[in-house]
Amino acid sequence: MANRNRFKRSVSRHLPFGEKRDTRFYGMHIVSVQQFDRQDLDTIFEVAREMRSMVERVGSFDLLKGKVLANLFYEPSTRTSSSFAAAVQRLGGSVLQINNVTFSSVSKGEVLQDTIRTMESYADAIVLRHPEEGSASIAASVATKPIINAGDGPGEHPTQALLDVFTILEELGRIDGLTVTIVGDLKYGRTVHSLAHLLSLYDIRLHFVAPDILHMPATLVDNLKEQGMAPCEHVNFEEVLPETDVLYVTRVQRERFDDLSMYERVRGSYVVAPETMASAKARMIVIHPLPRVDEISMQFDDDPRAAYFRQMEYGMYVRMALLALVLGKA
Ligand code: NCD
Repeated sequence: MANRNRFKRSVSRHLPFGEKRDTRFYGMHIVSVQQFDRQDLDTIFEVAREMRSMVERVGSFDLLKGKVLANLFYEPSTRTSSSFAAAVQRLGGSVLQINNVTFSSVSKGEVLQDTIRTMESYADAIVLRHPEEGSASIAASVATKPIINAGDGPGEHPTQALLDVFTILEELGRIDGLTVTIVGDLKYGRTVHSLAHLLSLYDIRLHFVAPDILHMPATLVDNLKEQGMAPCEHVNFEEVLPETDVLYVTRVQRERFDDLSMYERVRGSYVVAPETMASAKARMIVIHPLPRVDEISMQFDDDPRAAYFRQMEYGMYVRMALLALVLGKA
């Protein structure tokens, strides 16, 4: 709880939709899920639902007309980058896309802080993906405009975790009381670091399944225990599959390995396929932040429990909600 409020600013302004909308998000950096409480999540998800219904009815609208979002990506991205771009454009704003930093001044040796100062002179908020853990926090320490962490190395990926929780809610109707099993690369997977923290705000049973060298970091597990969670750690996922309501599958993060022979040793440890899912409940979901490599067979894609493609769409509504809340005009 110590740093839950670290990135909040005390401003009091009114958002343009819903008279008594909470304004505590205005101008906020989104760096870590640890800055959110249950009430924050309820607000974000309520706005995300409004965004969904607006998109379904009218496609795009003018809530953030004139606002510019900088998408600053030092690592590859398909979904995060394009869903933020689509989100701001559906809200009437525009996007400044910096994808290939080798064509920017970063390749001349510019430090992150200077690149952030540059981008914030042109944009109203910056979405940042960077290979170093802590980079979003460094960016937020110099920025006067909101920084949204889109993945800081193996650290966190808060907006992904928010969309993961929103997906569970929309698909299963609740979070409390569920059994969630997170399987794959729990050591380097930033999405699962954020997700585990966020799930600690709910009353759930949590299982971690990973190969011996890819366990959830001990400090994170200790932190969850301090918050009253009792995650069970396993190597074999078949033993927890029958009781699982949400199976969160992740890719082994090849780019984080110094020794690729270790990657080869653990890749393909778990594969979701029609045969492996035979013992799972009929009403449960399989989600994945994507991209998948070999951990979910394409043969499973037509199964109604395969929610990972629907999850991508929920992501755009959650990112629209975050942009609307952070950039909402008086
Ligand atoms: C994830 C990421 O970049 O951390 N992807 C995403 O944002 N949807 C997961 C991954 O790359 O494995």
